[in-house]
Amino acid sequence: MWTGRFTQATADKVLRYSESVSYDWELYRHDIAGSIAHARAQLAAGMLTQEEFDAIEEGLRSILADIDAGNFAWKRELEDVHMNIESELTHRIGSTGAKLHTARSRNDQVATDTRLYCRDRIDSILPALRGLQRVLVDKAEQYQDLRIPGYTHLQRAQPVTVAHHLLAYVEMLARDASRLADCRRRLNVCPLGSGAIAGSTINLDRAAIAAELGFDAVTENSMDAIADRDYVLECLFCLSLIGVHLSRLSEDLVLWSSSEFGFCTLSDAHTTGSSLMPQKKNPDVCELTRGKTGRLVGNLVSVLVAVKGLPLTYNRDLQEDKEPLFDSFATILLALQVNAEMIDAMQMNPDRCASAVADPLLLATDLADYLVRRGIPFRQAHELVGKAVAFSVDTDTPLNQLSPEQFQSISSAFGEDVHSVFDLERAFRLRTNPGSPGAERTKHRLAYWRKELS
Ligand code: ARG
Repeated sequence: MWTGRFTQATADKVLRYSESVSYDWELYRHDIAGSIAHARAQLAAGMLTQEEFDAIEEGLRSILADIDAGNFAWKRELEDVHMNIESELTHRIGSTGAKLHTARSRNDQVATDTRLYCRDRIDSILPALRGLQRVLVDKAEQYQDLRIPGYTHLQRAQPVTVAHHLLAYVEMLARDASRLADCRRRLNVCPLGSGAIAGSTINLDRAAIAAELGFDAVTENSMDAIADRDYVLECLFCLSLIGVHLSRLSEDLVLWSSSEFGFCTLSDAHTTGSSLMPQKKNPDVCELTRGKTGRLVGNLVSVLVAVKGLPLTYNRDLQEDKEPLFDSFATILLALQVNAEMIDAMQMNPDRCASAVADPLLLATDLADYLVRRGIPFRQAHELVGKAVAFSVDTDTPLNQLSPEQFQSISSAFGEDVHSVFDLERAFRLRTNPGSPGAERTKHRLAYWRKELS
């Protein structure tokens, strides 16, 4: 591929080691859009005649159509997507094609393509995020009043509702979406014109190129524009965090769908059997989401490490950003879609939920609050209820079946009405503060999300 300075062809193993076209071909749409905008600026600067520009544009559009149709032979010996397309252009339209690379380098070209790619992918992830949020809101609405234990340390803690639990993820996914939108805004800046490192002696209208490509501005330092990959890293971080949120949801569903919990049943279409044990119905989708999240985090870490030791500006190490980037975008898109489908088809099992949430120990904190209302400082109330719990364990009597006299033997602060605390209706009725799982609050939040996501 290299002429001029070189007298030997690139060694075959070096070619295999260094080629990127086997994966960066994915950038072809953005590469061609960038080239057309660049050529138009060359025309405006008088570097190309109208005929030459027309030939370049038509040539690039015919290449685009062929790649779209799967009729393009990518050549490994041409290294990357940029060289493949440029070389094919020259093959199709002759020496005019060789003018395209004036005032441009693959360094600003690849940075431009990758930013355009990220912008595009973010625009497909955002609707998928909303799609999953909508399914979660639907499920929350369907099981609005279904109560379950909430857990800390995976120990039963306090009563919540299925709606409150699922809406927690809707909140997380909303922040994920806003992070991605923020990242999109920051990366939507055009590097073309930065050249290999220090711009070019041939000045093209950078603002016009940026506008044609839908960028909001042009980069202000050619070295920064060539060297940094912060936009790749931000995307990888945002995608990793979506993965981490989905992974926690997956873990909840693995637990909920187990025989031990039995809170929910996943559909046959979203579970798999065992080749050996006929009774098994495994939550593989959840497990795969959990597992793939490891890869998403790995992708982020691999690019962080690849960039950390590089002197300014471009170093070939930077080519290693693409496989992790492409992989993370593809993985999250499918994860969001498959999880939406699975949760849409999931059914809750009200009986199992009801029997778990009937555990009177879930209201131990409410009992302490009851003592606080009777004038006992909380720390002391906490200790008294702790004693009552120990008494209930020692005598093998459920907490709500201790008599008022037994409670009063622990402290006279317990009243005759102590049993009124062991009432889930009351527990939820009292939880009215913003952010609490009380019925009114949940209804408001559901209405908010309905409107927000419509
Ligand atoms: N394939 C290269 C990459 O992704 C394109 C830029 C090549 N630049 C260079 N100076 N070799 O980084």
